[in-house]
Amino acid sequence: MVQNEEMSQLKQQALVDINEAHDAQALQNVKVKYLGKKGSVSGLMKHMKDLSNEEKPAYGQQVNALRQAIQDEIVSREEVLANEQLEAQLRDEKIDVTLPSRQIALGAKHPLTRTIEEIEDLFLGLGYEIVEGYEVEQDHYNFEALNLPKSHPARDMQDSFYITEETLMRTHTSPVQARTLEQRNGQGPVKIICPGKVYRRDSDDATHSHQFTQIEGLVVAEDIKMSDLKGTLELLARELFGADREIRLRPSYFPFTEPSVEVDVSCFKCKGKGCNVCKQTGWIEVLGSGMVHPNVLEMAGFDSQRYSGFAFGLGPDRIAMLKYGIEDIRHFYTSDVRFLEQFKAVEDRGEEEC
Ligand code: DAH
Repeated sequence: MVQNEEMSQLKQQALVDINEAHDAQALQNVKVKYLGKKGSVSGLMKHMKDLSNEEKPAYGQQVNALRQAIQDEIVSREEVLANEQLEAQLRDEKIDVTLPSRQIALGAKHPLTRTIEEIEDLFLGLGYEIVEGYEVEQDHYNFEALNLPKSHPARDMQDSFYITEETLMRTHTSPVQARTLEQRNGQGPVKIICPGKVYRRDSDDATHSHQFTQIEGLVVAEDIKMSDLKGTLELLARELFGADREIRLRPSYFPFTEPSVEVDVSCFKCKGKGCNVCKQTGWIEVLGSGMVHPNVLEMAGFDSQRYSGFAFGLGPDRIAMLKYGIEDIRHFYTSDVRFLEQFKAVEDRGEEEC
């Protein structure tokens, strides 16, 4: 029968087309071509009119069977394509978990932060409080309350950035002394250290920067003597520069202390023999200090007959330069990672000896 011939050819061709469809869209086109309303299988029905009534049901069943067979083939081809697509996707998105991970760049503490924290740790252990003040300060606290009235010649020692007649960038951390004493309403004891940034109208060079750091120390209580100051600073010098350090006090002048001293530490490099670090003297100047001037106590409301105290001011920049052999203060403030990265090594070694 000519219809049977056509049907089996159509089936063969459909199988070929299905197998050659390599993606979902191509398969969809094949489906429309054979099973769509105007598709080839529907087209077979046009032969109905040529068949006798007896033949018609059998022919109809054959066409339906063919439709079903092609439909089944398409479904199984769909599954094959879906699997292939999944496998390709898994292959493309494969992650090699054995690859080494990317290095995360670790920073290191800034040498000034390290130095400040080291000093803070020592004083916290001695029962001091850490107090911070204002970088923009009133002339009153920066100078007057520290026994430096307007027109006092010692103001020349600290050339300043004025914001108004009465406000300036603080030139030292000493105003935190004056503010703290005032807040304590004449009641001791006071034991504080005050770290922070300070500003001077200076031209920048290897040892001067218009911005640098200081740490102020202040103890006010009954019966504080110069020997307390000396013992405290000896401890500080040994903490910073090594257990066998000595200190020496030289007379000096600061308006807010009386007597005032300049404090030197025996050279940690040559142990006092003389070298380039100590400029052949065996001693290195590290800080200014003295017994709190009675005027400073009285101005802040403390009875200077009952209370006495000592104060000191040191520069972490200078300390860090000495400890780490840094020859230019500007390295601290230019954020050059090549400089900063060197302190990773210091960190990895733990607390370094100097
Ligand atoms: N404020 C002083 C300066 O910046 C340093 C100083 C000296 C602070 C003696 C003190 C001190 O507390 O007693 O030059």
